Amino acid sequence: MSALFHAKHVLITGGLGFIGSNLAIRLVREGARVTLLDSLKPEYGGNLFNIASIEDCVRINISDVRDEHSLSYLVKGQDFLFNLAGQTSHLDSMLDPVTDLDINCRAQLSILEACRHHNPKLRLVFASTRQLYGKPDYLPVDEKHPTRPVDVNGINKLAGEWYHLLYHSVYGIPTCCLRLTNTYGPRMRVKDARQTFVGIWINRLLQGEAFEVWGGDQLRDFTYVDDCIDALLLAATHPKALGRVFNLGGEERVSLDELAALLIEVNGGGEFVRREFPADRKKIDIGDYYSDDTLIRSELGWRPRLTLCEGFRHTLAYYREHLPKYL
Ligand SMILES: NC(=O)c1ccc[n+]([C@@H]2O[C@H](COP(=O)([O-])OP(=O)(O)OC[C@H]3O[C@@H](n4cnc5c(N)ncnc54)[C@H](O)[C@@H]3O)[C@@H](O)[C@H]2O)c1
Repeated sequence: MSALFHAKHVLITGGLGFIGSNLAIRLVREGARVTLLDSLKPEYGGNLFNIASIEDCVRINISDVRDEHSLSYLVKGQDFLFNLAGQTSHLDSMLDPVTDLDINCRAQLSILEACRHHNPKLRLVFASTRQLYGKPDYLPVDEKHPTRPVDVNGINKLAGEWYHLLYHSVYGIPTCCLRLTNTYGPRMRVKDARQTFVGIWINRLLQGEAFEVWGGDQLRDFTYVDDCIDALLLAATHPKALGRVFNLGGEERVSLDELAALLIEVNGGGEFVRREFPADRKKIDIGDYYSDDTLIRSELGWRPRLTLCEGFRHTLAYYREHLPKYL
């Protein structure tokens, strides 16, 4: 993949966040000229420490995707745009729906307008979410499954996705959307459960405290962040990716109880307690979910490379070393 990004100009919105920073590290390694745009709002996953190893090799722009003027300037001259900035908390989208609308919907349209006016040839990948399917009618969930979001975040991400597809079909902007499932790995937010429950589990575990599993029987699938980066890079370069939507998934589907037990096993100790789902979360929970990711495997040749066990091993090693930077 190296030659495809060498000396290319790449803009990553949400570039100081979990997935964005891991992507930036990979792209710097591949010789790209990377600009990171991020608002660094403390409630979200942005963290300057995420890019400590490459800070001298990237351009950082602390700004907001809601700022149309910044975007019009920043998209100029870029070869690729990885559009990852987002409000990611499902509960927050219910408590403050208008902010979610502004970031996950309205700003997405203005990013696309900036591309249309200033750089319609750049390859653009949008980080969508499996949340837009809602409670599955069948498992595994493929891309043909109806979209029936159970929270405001899912509705806005769905609109964001459609804007990207529309700007491909009407204006020819080369876009691709990936519907991510639970992604985990180094540099995710572990301070709390805003980004993913796996984060707070690891935080508690490494501090010698029991972590809470809400429910426990729900089935989920997981993508290790490096595998997610592989998919983002394929989505940005593969000719068959244009104007299309792909699910991401993983090899294993596990219940949350099984996942908790695996994490403890890989850590070599620890404990968890099972708790009833809090009422406000229960209402927006999607129940069992796992993806059918056959399409991205067959069309783009994507394959997850790490097992959950290996992914947890890398993740725990990272936070054993760096946990204080994330508290
Ligand atoms: N991590 C997952 O499991 C997962 C699952 C499905 C979808 N996604 C999507 O992937 C993308 C990246 O998620 P992540 O897990 O890296 O989360 P993250 O919170 O770590 O990254 C998002 C980044 O966007 C930045 N941001 C938020 N609002 C912004 C704004 N208005 N202007 C500029 N920057 C802003 C945040 O500061 C943060 O650094 C998101 O769009 C998310 O919806 C992630």
